[in-house]
Amino acid sequence: MKKFTCVADIGPLDLAVAEAMRIKADRFAWSDLGRNKTLLMLFFNSSLRTRLSTQKAAMNLGMNVMVLDVTQGAWKLETERGVVMDGDKAEHLLEAIPVMASYCDMIGVRAFAGLTNREEDYKEVVIGQFLKYAGCPVFSMEAATRHPLQSYADLITIEEFKTKPRPKVVLTWAPHPRALPQAVPNSFAEWMNATDYDFVITHPEGYELAPEFVGDARVEYDQRKAFEGADFIYAKNWSAYSGDNYGKVLSMDRDWMVDSAKMALTDNARFMHCLPVRRNMIVTDEVIESERSIVIPEAANREISAQAVIKRLLESI
Ligand code: CP
Repeated sequence: MKKFTCVADIGPLDLAVAEAMRIKADRFAWSDLGRNKTLLMLFFNSSLRTRLSTQKAAMNLGMNVMVLDVTQGAWKLETERGVVMDGDKAEHLLEAIPVMASYCDMIGVRAFAGLTNREEDYKEVVIGQFLKYAGCPVFSMEAATRHPLQSYADLITIEEFKTKPRPKVVLTWAPHPRALPQAVPNSFAEWMNATDYDFVITHPEGYELAPEFVGDARVEYDQRKAFEGADFIYAKNWSAYSGDNYGKVLSMDRDWMVDSAKMALTDNARFMHCLPVRRNMIVTDEVIESERSIVIPEAANREISAQAVIKRLLESI
């Protein structure tokens, strides 16, 4: 594996899950694999879980790790080619990428969608330039349209907690005060569609995701109906994808918050969220603190998904 930006990069999911379980059983078994190799983690946006879990994963493999917050202490980077650089951006990504790559063996990049220009966001300009110009393995730590390390951890978590071979998994939109990218729900849908689970997406009208991510998933506009018989409820907010509403908050309808009454409609479902989560907007205190909530093991599995990905990338160097 030379890069990791989407589900297709990881290959068959049964093998990816089996590899994750081997790592989880003994995460230090490959502590020589990354010896004298350096990972550069580059953040254009904030992070708690991705930053810590990916760094820990690389350390488990014996790597050295450098972390750069592009917005704090580095030169402001221009990402568009052809721009007259007479503004506040002192360096172009086209020089910065090969320079950074000369100091490391692998690069992880976090660069969210700007949410002002759908075409630009969905072209994945920033991570695309890293893939083109870095000359070393590159992986996504959440890009404009996908968050594959999260989705891989979500899959591992569902496999660990499922009690039937083909669980019903429901991705539900939930309210949030600010506009958030579609990367997590897009990616979750992409990974769930690659399994044989019964996968349902529920959201208010106007919040339809891009068709290439919805794929063959069932879309149900009645959230309560979608919850019936569910084994996993995966809550997430996202901003609108469609047309002129791209990147906008169309609704903050608190009736879409996940609460105990809705969880009671499920088949004793597990509650999931990628975190960070806004309590009593997305989910009630009661649900997230309940014994059915698996948000902490889900977050812990971020170390495992990151280690599986970095291990595969190291094996290709
Ligand atoms: N879920 C996730 O990616 O968390 P962070 O934004 O804190 O990294």
